[in-house]
Amino acid sequence: MGDPPQALRRGSPGARPGARGLARRGSRRHGGPDDARRDTEEFMDAKGSTARRWAAVAAAALAAVAGPARAADTTLEIFTYWTAGGEADGLAAIEKIFAAKYPHTKITNAVVAGGAGSNANAVLATRMQGGKPPDTFQIHGGAELIDNWVKTGFMQPLGDLYKAQGLGSKFPKQLIELVSWKGQPYSVPVNVHRNGVLWFNQKVFAQNGITAPESWDAFFAAAEKLKAKGVTPLALGDKDKWESLQLFEDVLLATLGPGPYKALWAGTLPWTDPRVTQALTTMQKVLGYVNEDHATLTWDQASGLVLQGKAAMNLMGDWAKGYFTSNGWQVGTDFGWAPAPGTKGSFIVVTDTFGLPKGAKHRQAALDWLGVLASVPGQDAFNPKKGSIPARIDADKGIYDAYSRGAMADFASNALVPSEANGPATLPAFLTPITDAIAVFVNDRDVAKAQATIARACVDAGACPGK
Ligand code: GAL
Repeated sequence: MGDPPQALRRGSPGARPGARGLARRGSRRHGGPDDARRDTEEFMDAKGSTARRWAAVAAAALAAVAGPARAADTTLEIFTYWTAGGEADGLAAIEKIFAAKYPHTKITNAVVAGGAGSNANAVLATRMQGGKPPDTFQIHGGAELIDNWVKTGFMQPLGDLYKAQGLGSKFPKQLIELVSWKGQPYSVPVNVHRNGVLWFNQKVFAQNGITAPESWDAFFAAAEKLKAKGVTPLALGDKDKWESLQLFEDVLLATLGPGPYKALWAGTLPWTDPRVTQALTTMQKVLGYVNEDHATLTWDQASGLVLQGKAAMNLMGDWAKGYFTSNGWQVGTDFGWAPAPGTKGSFIVVTDTFGLPKGAKHRQAALDWLGVLASVPGQDAFNPKKGSIPARIDADKGIYDAYSRGAMADFASNALVPSEANGPATLPAFLTPITDAIAVFVNDRDVAKAQATIARACVDAGACPGK
């Protein structure tokens, strides 16, 4: 996952001064495309061929101000990494709402598969730095958006859209803070995912007399029982590496609690802390209960082991719920859930958002997409399929199932903490080194080496104090 060169700032291609100028001249009619067209005709009558040339320029500029006639914006390029079960279903549902509202705009999805953007982020960075941005792209709220793309001058502010749709009072303030910089919002959150959820196969649990473990000690007792029966206790798929960092996050939160966990990512609690040693030691033990082929599986293939009854449990964000229901599983009947062992009372927040990069070719269509994403119909079409809860506080709660209603209640009452693996909880420069350090630890299980490597990398990345 490359970090964009900080130096690259580009002028704002969004608004061409000429365009704004013309519109202002006709200021009394600061209206829609019809007014703009009337302006053009008046201008043509007066002055012959020069007038015709000027009229062409003026027409183009006026179209840019008033927004191209609806028919003109025929394509919209979105950039996402949603391909797995639940992900693709959610996206298709929102595309359907968009198509109904904007039948003239054809969506092309420059999709790059790989969970958590593990492949997409590098492709996006190349396109953004190369001046070929998509019209809009999927990005996590938090440092991934703000540090990578807003502070570096690649994004267009969305204050007007927020004002036009009254979004300031429709999203929880914590989410608006995650997508804002210097008082301006820079993306639209479509959901709130909960990371760090323990999913389990109800039948396997019943057959083995297991209930959801609330602590890691209870997990180890259940895992021993399952292992003795030849059932893989915990499914893990860390082919893309972020999944094992995520497992580490869950163990860290259980070991430290929400306050110290946040302090760790904020750089105010050192990675040399003995509780980090304890967390790595617990993870070392947890790794003894996962499927041996974990490094060859993606996150959804690991969730698939639970679906097939080959594994009893899986620790994953609630996008796994979207995966289970997209495969026909019933909430509560076929699968159960609980907070990751030892994390009850905390909620690891992951929010998927879409932003508007400078240089977006189809700016109006991108704004239309963001408008649909921000709307109640858009969010209520997307989230039940995706497994997440809506970002909007006025969504129709009645259409959400028992899991999602529980997640809504926990989001409102729990301690909210960030995820490093899904939209980093700290400076992006620390994400690759800590992901790699945990990937090495998964193989060599060397607690002291992992802790020293992470502590060093945090300082080197500028995410922790020290030389
Ligand atoms: C997360 C993302 C989710 C889900 C997951 C697996 O980072 O926020 O929407 O798609 O990755 O790809």
